[in-house]
Amino acid sequence: MFSHKRADFGEGFVFGAATAAYQIEGGQTDGRGPSIWDSFSATPGNVQAGDTGAVACDHYRLWPQDLDLLADAGFDAYRFSFSWPRLIPEGTGTINDKGIDFYDRLIDGMLERNLKPFATLYHWDLPSALQDKGGWLNRDIANWFADYAVLVAQKFGDRLATTATINEPWCVAFLSHMLGAHAPGYRDLRAAARASHHVLYAHGSAINAMRSEGMKNLGLVLNFEVAQSASADPDDMTAALLWDGIFNRWYLDGLFKGAYPTDVLEQFGEHMPAHYLADMATVTAPIDWLGVNYYTRGLYAHDPARTVFPLRKVDGPLEKTDIGWEIFPQGLEDILTRISTDYTTIPLYVTENGMAEVEGVDDPRRVAYYDSHLASVRGAQNRGANVKGYFGWSLLDNYEWAEGYSKRFGLVHVDYQTQQRTPKQSYRAFQAMLAGNNIPT
Ligand code: NOJ
Repeated sequence: MFSHKRADFGEGFVFGAATAAYQIEGGQTDGRGPSIWDSFSATPGNVQAGDTGAVACDHYRLWPQDLDLLADAGFDAYRFSFSWPRLIPEGTGTINDKGIDFYDRLIDGMLERNLKPFATLYHWDLPSALQDKGGWLNRDIANWFADYAVLVAQKFGDRLATTATINEPWCVAFLSHMLGAHAPGYRDLRAAARASHHVLYAHGSAINAMRSEGMKNLGLVLNFEVAQSASADPDDMTAALLWDGIFNRWYLDGLFKGAYPTDVLEQFGEHMPAHYLADMATVTAPIDWLGVNYYTRGLYAHDPARTVFPLRKVDGPLEKTDIGWEIFPQGLEDILTRISTDYTTIPLYVTENGMAEVEGVDDPRRVAYYDSHLASVRGAQNRGANVKGYFGWSLLDNYEWAEGYSKRFGLVHVDYQTQQRTPKQSYRAFQAMLAGNNIPT
């Protein structure tokens, strides 16, 4: 049981659960084009046990029961992503009608169940044909992405409650092009510098394009990590600040101040795209809301062995989730408050929060995780943050990227042999709170 009531979060506060196309859909049939995650996961060594998203939760076929699960929990909204290669197999040009039909049915299914569709355009499954042209390294991606956004606007725009351009640009740029952990798996400073700018330039271009189509409630989803110093040593404190720079400030400063943080620019040096400053007017295109994904904090220390980004993550002492991330609920309150105080008063939605836990439907640790983070949302609201909604990650156990199926974040257990869905205790805790049956004191 949670120790909160729905009404504690204010009138109109939206509760939901989130997923992403590649992590749940499967269904590589019906004209869907290849994405960078198909080839990245097919390459030995990239993903735990060589798992791929080829079948995943078979949501492409089983979506009606997944929408029923959301509705039965009492959720107000469903955060999902469109698969770009399902809608436009080559990324640009020819449209796949079966892809349009799929999302038509899915969105209508949400509306029939009184679920508000919270859509994301890009949750990491870049069409392979665009990667062949350089992907996020090519400035033209802003045009490719804006054209795709216009298609979504024209086909689905009138039925979407909110639309986010990009999920977690830090992962798209740095994790995928500097740390090599996600597709396309680059470890390259120049690639990271270019992707870090192009991802925000593409975001702004898509916002402008969707605005021209008359769309409303446009935003994007950033991920945040509270970066703390591993010690009181000034070098370690500088390292933590630099991590805050590349993870958090790059995106907040870019979007809301139109200038990237100088400590990070120094690291990227000559590798930034020429004339990037001219794009900042597009990067700062006004948005209507901001999505906040939050899971953990990190401790950072100076690492003299590295010539750029001279830092390393240090193992922390707090209780950890099954993916090894420290549980630090205070961080969510602090991040939400920081954004509201230092950057913007537009509505904030916690678009992802949750934990990986070992397999099973009895998940009391996850219930406690959610309860403590919901308390942080209320704490942030009390400190003046304009938080308007909260989404658990994830509705279902699903394909956890480089961790494959080994890590489970679901409110609902998935048996990957039978595709049987079974609600966990954490699902029941949301259900009870949303129905007003948990009678918290
Ligand atoms: C963030 C990502 O948006 C999502 O795809 C991922 O599964 C969760 N975090 C958990 O790592």
